[in-house]
Amino acid sequence: MQSNRWTGFLLVAITVIVGCMGKKQNKVTNSELKQLTEELFGYEDQIFRSRVETNFQGQLTGRRFRDVAPQPFLAVDDEIFENPVVKRLRKLFDNYEMDTNQKENVTLEEKEEEERLLDALLETNSINRVINFCSDHGLVGKGNRTHREILRHVWFQQYPRHQNIDVATSSAFEHIFLGELKRGRKLTGLHNWVSFNNAERSGDIDYWGYRLKNSLGNTTIPAVVDVAYRYVGHVSSTIFFIGTSPELEMSLFTLCYFARPNKYYHISMNGTDFGIKTYVMNHRGRHAHLATAFPQY
Ligand SMILES: *[C@@H]1O[C@H](CO)[C@@H](O)[C@H](O)[C@H]1NC(C)=O
Ligand SMILES: *[C@@H]1O[C@H](CO)[C@@H](O)[C@H](O)[C@H]1NC(C)=O
Ligand SMILES: *[C@@H]1O[C@H](CO)[C@@H](O)[C@H](O)[C@H]1NC(C)=O
Ligand SMILES: *[C@@H]1O[C@H](CO)[C@@H](O)[C@H](O)[C@H]1NC(C)=O
Repeated sequence: MQSNRWTGFLLVAITVIVGCMGKKQNKVTNSELKQLTEELFGYEDQIFRSRVETNFQGQLTGRRFRDVAPQPFLAVDDEIFENPVVKRLRKLFDNYEMDTNQKENVTLEEKEEEERLLDALLETNSINRVINFCSDHGLVGKGNRTHREILRHVWFQQYPRHQNIDVATSSAFEHIFLGELKRGRKLTGLHNWVSFNNAERSGDIDYWGYRLKNSLGNTTIPAVVDVAYRYVGHVSSTIFFIGTSPELEMSLFTLCYFARPNKYYHISMNGTDFGIKTYVMNHRGRHAHLATAFPQY
C-alpha cells in the first residue's frame, strides 16, 4: 500500500514537472526548431561562402594565448559588400562606443542607418519567416507590433551593460556584431565574420590563431570557428559563423531570443546538429534584453 501511494505521488509530481517544462519551452519543440533552421539555411545564397577565404595557421589550446598566426585570418571578395544587407550593415560599424562604461550617443544619422538596415532585412525570407513563426507561437507578446518594431526592439534598443548603472551603453547589435570592451578590460561579443574582417582590414584586429573549427555537413569548408585575436590592446577569443548572411545570423539569434532565452538551443543546418547559446539581461527587473548570442558545437 505504502509503495503504491508513493508511486502515485511520484507520477503526479513527474506530470507536474514535465508540464511546467513544456510551458517554459513555449510549446516550441526542439524538432520544430531544427526543421525551421534547416529551412532558414535553405534560403542562403551560397555565393557568400564561396567568396570568403580562411587562413587558419597555428592552433591554440588552453586559455594562454600567443600569436601563432602571422597572416590575417579572412580574405573576403569585395563583391560581397554590394549585397544590400551587407552594404547597410557595414555602415553601422562606426556607430557605437566600444567601452561599456561610455554612454551611447545615437545621432539622427545613425538612427537613419539602422532603419535602412532594417529595410533590407525586412526584404529577406529568413527574417520574415522567423518573426511569423514567433508570432504564430505566441512568443512575441500581445498587441500588433510590426516586424520592423520587433526587430528594432530586439537589436537596437539601447540598455545598460552593467547592473549598477542606468546609462544606456549597449545594444544587442553592438555587442553581437561589433563587440565591446567590458569595464575597460575585457573584450566581449564580436560574433560576426563581416565585422571581424572589417577590423582586420583596417589593421585594428590582429588574428592570433584558431582554437576550433567545424563545418556543416560532410565537408571541410569551415562554418563555425573559435579564434583568438588582439584588439584595442586586449587579447580575447570569440566564436562566429563564417560565410553566413547577416539575415541568417539575425534570424537565428532573434529566434532563440524568443523561443529559448538563456538557453543552449539545438538547431540543424545542412544536416548537422549544433547549438546556439543565448543570454538575456534583466536590468533592475525591467524588460529583458538580448545580451548575447553565438553558435556553439
Ligand atoms: C552627440 O552627437 C551630436 C551629433 O554628432 C553632437 O552634436 C553632440 O555633441 C553629441 N553629444 C555627446 C554627449 O557626445
Ligand atoms: C491585430 O491585427 C489583426 C488584423 O489586422 C486584427 O484582426 C486584430 O484585432 C489585431 N489585434 C490587436 C490585439 O490589435
Ligand atoms: C552541405 O553538405 C554537403 C554534403 O555533406 C556539402 O557538400 C556542402 O558543401 C555543405 N554545404 C555547406 C554550405 O557547407
Ligand atoms: C564523407 O565524405 C567522404 C569523402 O568524400 C566519404 O568517404 C564518406 O563516406 C562521407 N561520409 C558520409 C557520412 O557521408
